[in-house]
Amino acid sequence: MVESRVTTTRSREMSTLVIIGAQWGDEGKGKVVDLLARRARYVVRFQGGNNAGHTLVVNGEKTVLHLIPSGVLQPGVKNIITQGVVVDPFVLLQELEGLEAANALPRPGEGLMISPRASLILPYHRAIDKARELRLAGGKIGTTGRGIGPAYEDVAGRRAIHLGDILDRARLEARLDRVFDERNATLSWLGQEPINREDMVQKLLAAGKRLAPYVREAEAIVRDAVARGEDVLFEGAQGALLDVQHGTYPFVTSSSTNAGAVTTGVGIAPSAVNAVVGIVKAYTTRVGAGPFPSELEGEVADHLRAVGHEFGSTTGRPRRCGWLDLPALRYAHGLNGFTSFALTKLDVLTGLDEVKLCTGYKVKGEVLSIPPSAVNFDEVEPIYETFPGWTEDIKGVQTLDELPESARRFVESIEALVGVPVAVIGTGPGRREVVERGPLWIAEA
Ligand code: GDP
Ligand code: IMO
Ligand code: MG
Repeated sequence: MVESRVTTTRSREMSTLVIIGAQWGDEGKGKVVDLLARRARYVVRFQGGNNAGHTLVVNGEKTVLHLIPSGVLQPGVKNIITQGVVVDPFVLLQELEGLEAANALPRPGEGLMISPRASLILPYHRAIDKARELRLAGGKIGTTGRGIGPAYEDVAGRRAIHLGDILDRARLEARLDRVFDERNATLSWLGQEPINREDMVQKLLAAGKRLAPYVREAEAIVRDAVARGEDVLFEGAQGALLDVQHGTYPFVTSSSTNAGAVTTGVGIAPSAVNAVVGIVKAYTTRVGAGPFPSELEGEVADHLRAVGHEFGSTTGRPRRCGWLDLPALRYAHGLNGFTSFALTKLDVLTGLDEVKLCTGYKVKGEVLSIPPSAVNFDEVEPIYETFPGWTEDIKGVQTLDELPESARRFVESIEALVGVPVAVIGTGPGRREVVERGPLWIAEA
């Protein structure tokens, strides 16, 4: 029954697709975007910043992208960063240098375009982010330390410096007049050294000069592409449960991470979104602090961390590991209306005697199928259903027939228990290490 729903034929009208991490980030979005970008003309980042770490493995070569969209290794794709993203100009330049060294530098204005209205992450944002975490001691959020929170505060506070502002000294100085002293005062209150304004301005102007060729009216370009019916892929960062409003607050990031953010992050009609693909890891991981009902410790967690290489792509921190949490996934489905799932890292479960799904939560004697509230995961007790494991090596497997019966049953149970078809199954980090069951570009009938 579930099978038949993923095999609808392709329609020309269904040309936009959003990729959303359906858990707490690091689900394998980069790999799936790279895979789907075979068909895309445009790959668009619309929120988040370089707190993201999206890993692509092509011909055995690993590339980790933080700001540049994951379509960059597919020839002919136009990669776009819109105003919803917070951009650290120095990190962006480093990332471009890395791509140049790998002979994969995107051409300005073609392979990569960035909005002049993208807000910048500046040295004082990074310093404040880190200093605040230090002060929180035991109550740390566990941020990536990249300045994301303070940068988004300035967006909402109308004090952000935009990429377009560093193309012109007078404009930059005028913008800085509105914010700089206050930020240095915050740093001093946090016990940190002040930032030298002139030194920062010079570095920013130099960065602006190098980035200028990439600056384009990104939002209008995306709107026009959608209007023409081009294939546009929107690449989400972080995950549903890290959303600033709908996630496990305050243990969240500072942007909206769900599909609705495409409309505000790009400036596009909600009706322009045709399909929403949830990227789901076959188990759960989380970096940083915060609720995690199905978290494990011991042998199984060690297996997942070691076999799945569960160490942060951005910070290198070991990721917390646990079983796949279906109540959390149903909640993410409610926020996003997933038209299909890409289930990644199924191969990592190979070798476990049994595998489990958290199918519900027990709260004060009551059994719930979704979280009682987004911020109240603490008092829930996970209820598990246990499945037989498998020992057959499924690394790199590309067809359903090659998956052992128990692996298939595990996948079908997820579909049945959440009500979303699994269109792609990841069997390894490589671009080709997938089972493609159905076309993800299509909204389900
Ligand atoms: P993202 O932030 O969602 O893009 O995910 P990350 O790149 O931070 O973390 C996912 C990790 O899993 C990366 O190291 C990927 O190379 C790897 N990966 C993705 N899909 C698969 C898969 O199906 N199997 C295995 N074994 N690894 C995968
Ligand atoms: P990708 O796109 C996993 C987490 C941090 C921390 C919280 C707040 O690679 O999936 P922030 O620096 O954003 O203020 O940190 O959010 N976090 C992520 N966890 N994957 C990510 O991105 C993340 N981006 C932020 O670990 O708990
Ligand atoms: Mg990541």
